Amino acid sequence: MSASLSIKKKINNFDKIITVSGDKSISIRWILFSSLANGVYIAKNLLISEDILAAISIIRKLGIKVKIEKNSCKVYGKGIFGYNYKNNLVLNAKNSGTLGRLILGLIINSPKTIKLIGDKSLSKRDFKRIAIPLKKFGAKFKLKKSFGLPLEIKGTKNLTPIYYEETKGSAQVKSAIMFAGIRTNGKTIIKASKSRNHHELLFKYLKIPIKIKKRKKFDFIEVNKVKKIKPLNYKIPSDISSASFFIVLTALLNKSKLTIKKVNINPSRVGVITILKKMGVNIFFKNKIKYKGETIADIVVKSPKKIKSINCPSNLNSGAIDEFLIIFLVAAKAHGVSYFKNLSELNKKESPRLLWASKILKNIGIKTIVTNDSIKIFGNPEIKVNKKIIIKNFLKDHRIFMCCTIAALSFGGNWIIHDKDSINTSFPSFLKIISNLKNEK
Ligand code: S3P
Repeated sequence: MSASLSIKKKINNFDKIITVSGDKSISIRWILFSSLANGVYIAKNLLISEDILAAISIIRKLGIKVKIEKNSCKVYGKGIFGYNYKNNLVLNAKNSGTLGRLILGLIINSPKTIKLIGDKSLSKRDFKRIAIPLKKFGAKFKLKKSFGLPLEIKGTKNLTPIYYEETKGSAQVKSAIMFAGIRTNGKTIIKASKSRNHHELLFKYLKIPIKIKKRKKFDFIEVNKVKKIKPLNYKIPSDISSASFFIVLTALLNKSKLTIKKVNINPSRVGVITILKKMGVNIFFKNKIKYKGETIADIVVKSPKKIKSINCPSNLNSGAIDEFLIIFLVAAKAHGVSYFKNLSELNKKESPRLLWASKILKNIGIKTIVTNDSIKIFGNPEIKVNKKIIIKNFLKDHRIFMCCTIAALSFGGNWIIHDKDSINTSFPSFLKIISNLKNEK
């Protein structure tokens, strides 16, 4: 069993500048794109966490050389069709839904059967959403009745281009289809509900032909066969999902100020900022620059005097999908009742997060009404926790662990949070940054 974290004391107020690690979505994508390039790709500030190490180990198994150096990572791509591997290959995506789904779009033209496995949490997740479009391209799948892992995929060299309507707002599904689309001889068109657009930006930056027509609720994305991808040097910006834990911590304390340096504030990822601003949290951007299609800025956040409740508009959901657990902590301290809806996807993450949110909030004395896709949170601006709280059996969901740590440091109580090593999937330096914030000097 992995170690647990004990927190018995709230954190004092602070005025600090911090840096969080590289963006997870971009780091995984960078590894995968670089494995397709003709030449050496170099990345700086790549997130070195278990999800990314799993991506590296998968592309190594596909015959691609990777060198991890002190401040950079080098991938020696062999071209779009350059993977080379033995029969009966087993790929392990460990905890990463992004890796597990995207890699299927890359091995779809392999006539050899490949088995995909993952850890206990990933094995419970839905792979039907990805098998449906990839079957249309011509791949064959052996899927469990539960649609989880392990699964087997047998691709084909003659892939048929497809038209597909992606309705869940899943960037993972959209991105996997785009990867498959560049391996066919024709035009693949996706009508995609809005979701994060790092994949599209990397296509553009790498000069891989792509046409995008933006509409209010969805985008039409067209991709075509690609022959070559040029090498790309990239400095991965910091991850807004990791930054959000500290934005919320600052929002829940009194008289605190925090600057988080060089964070990716891609408009498709800043739902958390929009929602927290609507709730009265003081947040602004400084030193904004454009970098290879992404937008990077320092985020400055100050504790608000009063937190307002919110009836959260559903069009903000996709841009904040990984941040709702901690947004709910802010709602717990708000004046009034907050309402978040159309969030069935939250129960399909590393753990059923909507259910976990209501468990955590109940533990800290906050009333909630939860359905399978919504939560009402009855805020208490005077919230104080004095009891002992033990959090365990959460499928090692990294965001549950970090959310509970922030709750303990903000509201008090005597907490024991199990599975400390869960942070290694996305944010290994999380607890180091907390120690820095605790340090008065
Ligand atoms: C991700 C997409 C989102 C998100 C996940 C990362 C990505 O998942 O929750 O953490 O990098 O494409 P869905 O595609 O399932 O919405």
